[in-house]
Amino acid sequence: MFEVANKVHDETRQGEAYSPFINDTNTYVRKFYIESYGCQMNFSDSEIVASILNTEGFGATRNFEEADLIFLNTCSIREKAEQTVRKRLTEFKKLKHKNPSLLVGVLGCMAERLKSKFLEEEKLVDLVIGPDAYRSLPGLITEADSGQKGVNVLLSRDETYSDIAPVRLNSNGITAFVSIMRGCNNMCSFCVVPFTRGRERSRDAASIIDECQNLFNAGYKEITLLGQNVDSYYYTPEDGSSTITFAMLLEMAARVSPDLRIRFSTSHPKDITDDVLYTMARYENICNYIHLPLQSGSTRVLQLMNRNYTQEWYMAKVDRIREIIPDCGISSDIIAGFCTETEQDHKDTLQVMEYSTYDMSYMFFYSERPGTLAQRRYKDDVPEEVKKQRLQEIVQLQNRLSQQSNQRDIGKTFKVLIEGDSKKSSQDWMGRSSQNKVIVFPKNDYLFQPGNYVCVKVTSCTQATLLGEIVN
Ligand code: 5AD
Ligand code: SF4
Repeated sequence: MFEVANKVHDETRQGEAYSPFINDTNTYVRKFYIESYGCQMNFSDSEIVASILNTEGFGATRNFEEADLIFLNTCSIREKAEQTVRKRLTEFKKLKHKNPSLLVGVLGCMAERLKSKFLEEEKLVDLVIGPDAYRSLPGLITEADSGQKGVNVLLSRDETYSDIAPVRLNSNGITAFVSIMRGCNNMCSFCVVPFTRGRERSRDAASIIDECQNLFNAGYKEITLLGQNVDSYYYTPEDGSSTITFAMLLEMAARVSPDLRIRFSTSHPKDITDDVLYTMARYENICNYIHLPLQSGSTRVLQLMNRNYTQEWYMAKVDRIREIIPDCGISSDIIAGFCTETEQDHKDTLQVMEYSTYDMSYMFFYSERPGTLAQRRYKDDVPEEVKKQRLQEIVQLQNRLSQQSNQRDIGKTFKVLIEGDSKKSSQDWMGRSSQNKVIVFPKNDYLFQPGNYVCVKVTSCTQATLLGEIVN
C-alpha cells in the first residue's frame, strides 16, 4: 500500500516476480518462481513461502520458464484482481504442455475463497494453499509430484509464522515489511478478507522486535509494521508478563535504533488511539504518516459498511492527528458506489476528503464479493456508469488535493531516507520524507548512498513527486 501516486485500484503491484537471490540457485535441485498480487501482506507472505521452500531445498528463480514450480500468491479483494490471476493461469498452462512435470500452485486469498473448486474448475492448477497453510507446502509438493492434487486451505486461530525468518524478496536492502498480526475480526460488510484470512491474531512481540533488530543489523533503515488493523494488535507473552498493545509495540520498535525508521499500516479510524499518536510524536524515527481508510464519508453508508464510526468521528480523528502530530501525512482508501449510495452520500465523501486534505488515496469502485455481509444483505444497486462517474470525481478531487499538498511543501526541508536511483535518471536519488512522500533530487557528486539520511529542500513538484536538492 505504499505508492505515492493516487491509485484507482491497488492491483498496480500485480504480478511482481520475486527473486530472492540470496542463495546461489545453482545449488538447488529444483527451482520455484513466485508472483504476488494485491496487498502488502501478500508480498510479505511470499517471503515466508520463499523461506519455507528454501529450507526444503528449493531455490528461487526470476525466470518462470526455468521453474519447476510456479506459484501465484493471489488476491480476492475485487473481482478484477481475480480475473487477472485467471488470465495468468491460462498463460502458465501453455508451459505445462511443454513441461508436464511443472507444478502450478495458487496461494493466498483466492486459494482460500475458491478452495478445491480451483482444481475442478481450472484444470491448470496442481496445488491450492490458503494463507495459514504454508507450512504444509513441502508435503503438498511431494503429493503433487506423485500426481495427486495438493490442497490445504485450513485457517488457523494461532498461526503467525513468527519463527520463520522471511527471505527478503526483490529487496532494495533499505526498506522492509514486518508482519505483526494476521487475519481480521472487523467484518466490514464489503470485505472478503475476514473470510480468506481468518480470525485476527497477533504475533509474539519478541519475535517482531528480533526481526526488526536483525533487519537493522543487516543494513535496513526502514521497517513497515504490517497488519489488516494494526491498532488492535494485542499480545500477552506466555511468561505472564503484561499485555503489549500497538502503542507499546511501536515504542519497542522505535527503540531498536534512532536510525531505523518505523512505519505501519493499516490503521482503523475506530481503533487508532491517542496513545499511538503520542508515541508517534515522541519518537522522531516513527514516521509522521498514517494510512486511515475512510471508505465513505456518509454516516449512513458507513453504518451499512459496518465500519463502526460516523462522519463526525472520522473528522474528529483527523483533527486529533493534526493536533498531536501537526505535520502528519494522511492517506485514505475510498470506495465509490457502495450499495444504496445516493448522490448526497457521494457528496459527503467528497466533503470529508476535502476536510482531511489527504496527501494520497487508493480509490475503488465497489465490487461485490461472494459470501461477504454486503452480498448477503444488500443489493449492488448503483449502476456501473454511476459508480464510474463518482469514482472519477473522487479521483479528480484527490488529484487536486495531492497537487495542493505537494505545493505546500515547496520551500520546506525534509529529512529523506535515500532508497536508490530515481526511476527516470541514474543521476538522481529517490527517497521518502517522514510523511511518505517521494522526493527526487540530484546525487551531488555521489557523496551519499542508499540508506543515508539527507536533508532535501523542495524546489518544485508534480502531482505525485516532490523535486528538490540536498542542503546538508
Ligand atoms: N470493493 C471495492 N473495494 C474494496 N476494498 C475492500 N473490499 C472492496 C470491495 N469489495 C478496498 C477498501 C480497503 C482496500 C484494501 O480495498 O477500500 O480498504
Ligand atoms: Fe477488510 Fe475491514 Fe478488515 Fe480492512 S478492516 S481487512 S476492510 S474487514
